[in-house]
Amino acid sequence: MTVLGWARVWALACSAGWAAAQTPGTVSLASPERGKALLLQRQDSGCVLCHQVQGLPVGGTLGPSLVGLAERSTKAQARERIADARRLNPQTIMPAYLSTEGLNKVATPYQEQTILTAQGLEDILSYLFSPNKATP
Ligand code: HEC
Repeated sequence: MTVLGWARVWALACSAGWAAAQTPGTVSLASPERGKALLLQRQDSGCVLCHQVQGLPVGGTLGPSLVGLAERSTKAQARERIADARRLNPQTIMPAYLSTEGLNKVATPYQEQTILTAQGLEDILSYLFSPNKATP
């Protein structure tokens, strides 16, 4: 990964509230709080540009509401969808968050980088599938 790449991962990590340095790519205990922060980030994840999410005050409608997701989907299904939605729907408008395949017009600093880290994806899943989410 390039220096800029690491800087971006680090910025993401800091904004998501990581206290200690971690190696991106390794996954430690998932945190619903970090997941919530990531879901809300319009620039890095963009999830709330397209989805309503339980417990979050903002949300778009380009994608289906994720409220009640845990009742209709398993965590594994959601993980697969978020990692690369194109595998389930080649025409999807949802970005492939854990894949660098087949992307074009990627700005140089971001080439060969995934939008989310593996840790970030697990944090988001832990929020979406947490039974203790606060209501808006
Ligand atoms: C550009 C709009 C867009 C963005 C950004 C987006 N999604 Fe999606 N998402 C969709 C659409 C549209 C679907 C419906 C399935 C399809 O078209 O592939 C979907 C489907 C899903 C599903 C399956 C929902 C269900 O009812 O089973 C999940 C889970 C999901 N998205 C999570 C996320 C997460 C988490 C993020 C951020 C990391 C995100 N999405 C970002 C558009 C988006």
